[in-house]
Amino acid sequence: MIERPRGTRDLDPAYLARHGHVESAFRRTAVAFGFREVLPPTIESLDLFHAKAGPGIEAEMYAFKDKGGRDVVLRPEFTAGVLRHYVNDLRSAPKPVKLYSLGPVFRYEEPQKGRYREFWQFSSEVIGGSPLDADAEVVALAVQSIRNAGVRQIETRIGHIGMLRSYLKVPKERQNGILHALDKRNFERLHAELDAAGLLDVEDTLKDLITLRGGPEVLAKASDLLGGVGTEGFDHLRRVLDRLAAYGVRDGLVFDMGIIRGLAYYTGMVFQIHSPNLGAEDQVGGGGSYALAELFGGEPIFSTGFALGTDRIVLASEVEGVPAAPHKLDAYVIPIGEGVRTRAFEIAATLRGTGLAVDIDLVGRGPSKNLDYANAVGARWAVLVGEKELAAGNVALRNMETGDQREVAVAQLASELGMDKPRFGGVEFR
Ligand code: HAM
Repeated sequence: MIERPRGTRDLDPAYLARHGHVESAFRRTAVAFGFREVLPPTIESLDLFHAKAGPGIEAEMYAFKDKGGRDVVLRPEFTAGVLRHYVNDLRSAPKPVKLYSLGPVFRYEEPQKGRYREFWQFSSEVIGGSPLDADAEVVALAVQSIRNAGVRQIETRIGHIGMLRSYLKVPKERQNGILHALDKRNFERLHAELDAAGLLDVEDTLKDLITLRGGPEVLAKASDLLGGVGTEGFDHLRRVLDRLAAYGVRDGLVFDMGIIRGLAYYTGMVFQIHSPNLGAEDQVGGGGSYALAELFGGEPIFSTGFALGTDRIVLASEVEGVPAAPHKLDAYVIPIGEGVRTRAFEIAATLRGTGLAVDIDLVGRGPSKNLDYANAVGARWAVLVGEKELAAGNVALRNMETGDQREVAVAQLASELGMDKPRFGGVEFR
């Protein structure tokens, strides 16, 4: 037996039915919000991520040398690739540039339920909007996308990393080490980072700050703790909350000063969306505003976005009992005897052309074995193609649920199955 690589999955039809439903809800919502789809490559150069995404990602990347000796990685996220694409190709596009991507990403993490080495993201970016308008737009898109996937039980936690950065008066790389330790709640590491930065005096304040979570009163408390630093950030969060109400996004929103985010590029508002139904890996999405364009050779430009973990939304939708589209097979065509096989394939092709889901015997079984098979694969109808009936222009149509069987004209078959005319350029009925 050959095993799958650790942290990967074989996605089966039942899972993919849910996954497809979730992804199409994401795509529909992004389009409704005026976003356009882009897809950066699966393989990126290491440079794109080196030090930009920060220690959280760097340690977790699938990085290797290709046959030409170049350092490459499997993309661990979309944001860096999309911003590279923006800087290289879309800089002169009318602003804001609103983009989304769907697909697999790769991280070399310790696998567990809900945490994989290959997983799927729905990622969106607004490049070049005003901070209030764009931040609220991306939070609203994230929440609405999850709702449209049928998942209701979520909490959206909104924080601000900008005020923390302005509080930590050390260079950005030093800040990143501190913020990363704070994000992981690794207090030993935090102590060491603060010590190295000469900032041990703020250790208690930081630890207190990240426990603050709740309504707008939290912002006043946080502001007090930081001695008035970061007022602008807190005002921004109040306005984002007001604006979200205009989108109909009111429930399940909290301010959370403990939202730090693992990726190093965040500069302002940050947010995470959690499901109460997923155990340890309960974060179904996250994002915020960031500075990346200037790192890739562009002008500094306000950018904000998020990514949802598609797999985790699929899991949440299962726990919440969101109905998944059942496997659909409208008809199974059964040729009775060698002489009618070609005609049976024509009939199957015609039905398929109408958009019906149609299967046909591919092994040459006898009629009763074929009926067993039709039953096993859940076909609604069996179409029995026999020589005698065909001579009269008919086939036998069997309702697999009731067992009722009657003759119908081949020309009437599609309408009997609920389709009146060929679509998708199918073969005409005859
Ligand atoms: P992230 O928080 O690293 O953000 O990932 C987004 C989401 O991907 C997480 O909230 C989680 O649901 C899911 N996720 C992360 N790791 C795994 C894993 N190992 N297995 C399954 N799901 C996982 C980003 O990737 C940023 N690029 C988001 C962003 C876009 N920020 C600004 N623009």
